[in-house]
Amino acid sequence: MRSAQLTIDPAFVIGPADRRIFGSFVEHMGRCVYGGVYEPGHPQADPRGLRRDVLALTRELGVSVVRYPGGNFVSGYRWEDGVGPVGDRPRRLDLAWKTIETNAFGLNEFMTWADEAGVEPMMAVNLGTRGVQEACDLLEYTNHPGGTQLSDLRRKHGVEQPYGVRLWCLGNELDGPWQVGHKTADEYGRLAAETARAMKLIDPSISLVACGSSNRQMPTFASWEATVLEHTYEHVDYISAHTYYDPSDGDRASILASAVDMDAFITDVVATADHVAARQRQRRKLKISFDEWNVWYQSRLRADLDRRGWVEAPALIEDDFTAVDAVVVGDLLITLLRHADRVGVACQAQLANVIAPIRTRTGGPAWRQSIFHPFALTARYARGTVLRTEPVSPDYDTSRYGPVPVLDTVAIHDEKAGELVVLAVNRGAEDLPLALDLRGLPGLRAVEHLGLAAGDDPEAINTEAEPDRVTPRALPTPTTDGGRCSVLLPAVSWNVLRFTSRL
Ligand code: AHR
Repeated sequence: MRSAQLTIDPAFVIGPADRRIFGSFVEHMGRCVYGGVYEPGHPQADPRGLRRDVLALTRELGVSVVRYPGGNFVSGYRWEDGVGPVGDRPRRLDLAWKTIETNAFGLNEFMTWADEAGVEPMMAVNLGTRGVQEACDLLEYTNHPGGTQLSDLRRKHGVEQPYGVRLWCLGNELDGPWQVGHKTADEYGRLAAETARAMKLIDPSISLVACGSSNRQMPTFASWEATVLEHTYEHVDYISAHTYYDPSDGDRASILASAVDMDAFITDVVATADHVAARQRQRRKLKISFDEWNVWYQSRLRADLDRRGWVEAPALIEDDFTAVDAVVVGDLLITLLRHADRVGVACQAQLANVIAPIRTRTGGPAWRQSIFHPFALTARYARGTVLRTEPVSPDYDTSRYGPVPVLDTVAIHDEKAGELVVLAVNRGAEDLPLALDLRGLPGLRAVEHLGLAAGDDPEAINTEAEPDRVTPRALPTPTTDGGRCSVLLPAVSWNVLRFTSRL
């Protein structure tokens, strides 16, 4: 049997595990809003129509920040449609998803929901069909205390205090030809810079995200980032990255190695941003907002869009995630944490129903998909300082990425609490013995080993009838001896190993 080793030392620090890495995304798409977070008349809905069962699952998921209202949707959205008396709000064509938008849910409903969920809102402005003025208007309505037309309009709508939203996205995926209002890098870079300058005049405390590429396979990838940042570097705080991994072709070995691609993606964007910084003699390092990432069976989208005319909140890309998909999601979170020095925000897309960890039936229950579990446990346990680990691992072959290590890991050390958490994925088809060298952290002993093992039933999914088929299970707690510890990682598994120095 092949085996792996891992050395962990508290001296090898990457950076603090930023809570904003555990973000999610609510878009006006499919049943994410309507029938997801919001469903007036549902037995679980509160008087404002917010589904209490979805709120409870959102809190359990440990989500820190939620991006809103899109996505592709935002590129044709008029935010004013979603405020004021609901009866006066217009019905509109949403060109992004070929859907009728009723506007029953808008900015103020979202902010109420975010408050109930205990999450930080992250707003996106429309830089597809709109520009500087509309972005400023939205910011004035949202963050200005009062005494102006738009801030007083908010007060008239029953919201006396400004929301103080800190995080703002300057549009969405404007590099994509599918985007309403698609632009060249120069066109977008100029618009984003001017919008950023004006928005920071209204509220200098905000942080801004410029759009990076929609994925690493875009033909303009890296040159888009370079050009956009030439225009925007001094005005923004983050450059975005988006990626989805598609298991549709059944190549399990490759999909399990998706984190290899995400890792290279982050490295490439950091290198590009740092290149622009060097050219412009900028000393401030830009961070990445990885504000859309997930597994997505993308081949199903076309069928979803082709099947219908203009309807309200149709079921769109409601993927059922397998046990293998959960291992992939766990590994993507490991990758984001391992780049904690340069990834400052990350949002799994999306929160409810649309390629989501939370699934609902309209009028029925809500349940946890397989991918819910690695997210919830990582968000719960990854607290403290991310440490660089030194793994020695055998490889396995993938058609997409060549030879890839079977082991992927990250360690998080909470010095104050005296705790160490090791997240580890075994991508291989056989169990993997792992030897941990913890001599740099004397006095630690293992207290828990949780594992989500997909080896026995890789295609297993959670459903309304069987909502707990894929869940992490307690595995034998390993023993620690003189700073050394041995543990068995099941075939195709995502694992949490918890250690403490407290008795
Ligand atoms: O999350 C689904 C869609 O994927 C988003 O609207 C878009 O930004 C991305 O292409």
